[in-house]
Amino acid sequence: MENTIDELQTVGDFIRWGASQFNKTQLFFGHGTDNAIDEAILLTLHTLHLPKETPEILWQSRLTYQEKSQLLEIFQERIEKRLPTPYLTHEAWFANLRFYVDDRVLIPRSPIAELIEERYEPWIDPEVVTRMLDLCTGSGCIAIASALLAFPNAEIDAVDISCQALEVADHNIESYGLEKRVYTVFSDLFTNLKGIHYDLIVSNPPYADAKEISNMPEEYHHEPMIGLEAGEDGLFFVKRILREAFYHLTPNGILIVEVGASQEALIEYYPVVPFTWLEFKHGGAGVFILTAEQLHQYAAIFEEE
Ligand SMILES: C[S@@+](CC[C@H](N)C(=O)[O-])C[C@H]1O[C@@H](n2cnc3c(N)ncnc32)[C@H](O)[C@@H]1O
Repeated sequence: MENTIDELQTVGDFIRWGASQFNKTQLFFGHGTDNAIDEAILLTLHTLHLPKETPEILWQSRLTYQEKSQLLEIFQERIEKRLPTPYLTHEAWFANLRFYVDDRVLIPRSPIAELIEERYEPWIDPEVVTRMLDLCTGSGCIAIASALLAFPNAEIDAVDISCQALEVADHNIESYGLEKRVYTVFSDLFTNLKGIHYDLIVSNPPYADAKEISNMPEEYHHEPMIGLEAGEDGLFFVKRILREAFYHLTPNGILIVEVGASQEALIEYYPVVPFTWLEFKHGGAGVFILTAEQLHQYAAIFEEE
């Protein structure tokens, strides 16, 4: 390390060296970046208290001894512990908004961000949404981004069964000054929402099946398992949501759920249900929409176990 600290001089030197180390040690990238160079840029700029838009001309700047030590330390932590970068920087980006994260919550990465940025159009008229539910909220990212970007006048409930996750969601809600419009609710799915109806229910529940969990790179094992595990077939939560959502939707309401790689299993399980599967310009898949009417029409199928 002594040699390294003397040989590397500039911001650019550290970005290049960090990226090489990340590739050499075969880190996995899936929590905000998809390659070693972007990962090294993120960690370096964060450690130097520089914004992510810092002009590249500054990459030629030389660093102090203390800054170099801090960079080596954070790179080492990323490599040795396989900690996802957002747990080291305590920030994650979702719909171009910054969220505080730590290992009490899953790192935001849902393609639903794209839908929020488009105000959920053409699937719902954003002007009619007065009440929305973010079921399985984690960091609160879907609820908060929806409040800020899609529905400036709506009230939003952000539900989770993890008190620890709700603490993080509350922190993010406060940071955006949304306490009067976005409320955290402790609940096992719909259990504590009796009699409440929403124009829109959005959920990114746990949906990893047993095989996916056992094949996950080490980085994912730092995330709370309660946010990932969904039984042998990955459908444990989505089946419950399909059974209960109708009773919490207004007549013209819609349900949007992410099931990721469990999409195939879901289609196989409910072959007659006409799920609308969304397409995303910026990547991601496995998100479906059903209307309240459709949930009602297929209620008997969802009731079957
Ligand atoms: C996949 S994470 C999604 C977090 C966040 N919505 C996002 O998109 O990043 C799933 C969340 O569901 C929560 N959860 C797990 N079981 C639950 C249940 N029975 N009721 C409510 N929330 C639950 C977990 O605590 C976790 O925060």
